Amino acid sequence: MGILDKHAALERHATLLLVCSLGVVTIGGIVEIAPLFWLENTIEDVEGVRPYSPLELAGRDIYVREGCYVCHSQMIRPMRDEVERYGHYSLAAESQYDHPHQWGSKRTGPDLARVGGRYSDEWHVDHLKDPQSVVPESVMPKYAYLEGNLLTGEHVDELLATHRMVGVPYTEEMIENARADFTVQVDPDGDWDALVERYPGAQVRNFDRQPGVSEMDALVAYLQVLGTMVDFSTFTPDASR
Ligand code: HEC
Repeated sequence: MGILDKHAALERHATLLLVCSLGVVTIGGIVEIAPLFWLENTIEDVEGVRPYSPLELAGRDIYVREGCYVCHSQMIRPMRDEVERYGHYSLAAESQYDHPHQWGSKRTGPDLARVGGRYSDEWHVDHLKDPQSVVPESVMPKYAYLEGNLLTGEHVDELLATHRMVGVPYTEEMIENARADFTVQVDPDGDWDALVERYPGAQVRNFDRQPGVSEMDALVAYLQVLGTMVDFSTFTPDASR
């Protein structure tokens, strides 16, 4: 009976109960979360996943600034309805270089984790300028001003350096060339060999078909790379891990 009597004391004192519950939840939390920081295979490296190019990273910043994550998730769950609609479920490695991740928690619009390559650049530009012009029933707001906002890329090297501080493996060479890489990605006539060498598979073209690098170029470059880094025709999950 002894131990049960002590339990009665706990149930009669709201504050004591609160403090003890907090203790239990904290211990449980640490036991579940802490090992993930030391397990080497928490994130399995997957071939093809690379850090974002400077232009894509700038586009990602605009995505965050505009709050696109409020209506769009970027995480395909391994359930049949999702996989049939959006494609292969998301791998942890695919958001390995996302700081902060853009998984989201609400889907007013569709998941965007694999939207890259699904539509033409022209479609994206039309859709971002006036979503209802291509999807009449859409409730998505208009982002036409992105096309008029030109970017110089003057701080893009600092943006890369900041992401390096939180663990993205940008090299000294990538940071030194960030501004050049930023501008050349929208210039198919330029000298973009080095860009593609640094960021394999980077898509080089004038995304909004207007002169200069606009916020529209950056955002569409980002959307067009989403979910395209891993080649799922050859990818096999490493079951031995
Ligand atoms: C108020 C909620 C809302 C916000 C904010 C929003 N969207 Fe959407 N989005 C939608 C809805 C609803 C749809 C589906 C209808 C359509 O295609 O317009 C959609 C569709 C899309 C699609 C097409 C997806 C597909 O697979 O067909 C893309 C791409 C997209 N949004 C990008 C963006 C970007 C980029 C931003 C931020 C600049 C953004 N959205 C902000 C609601 C939103």
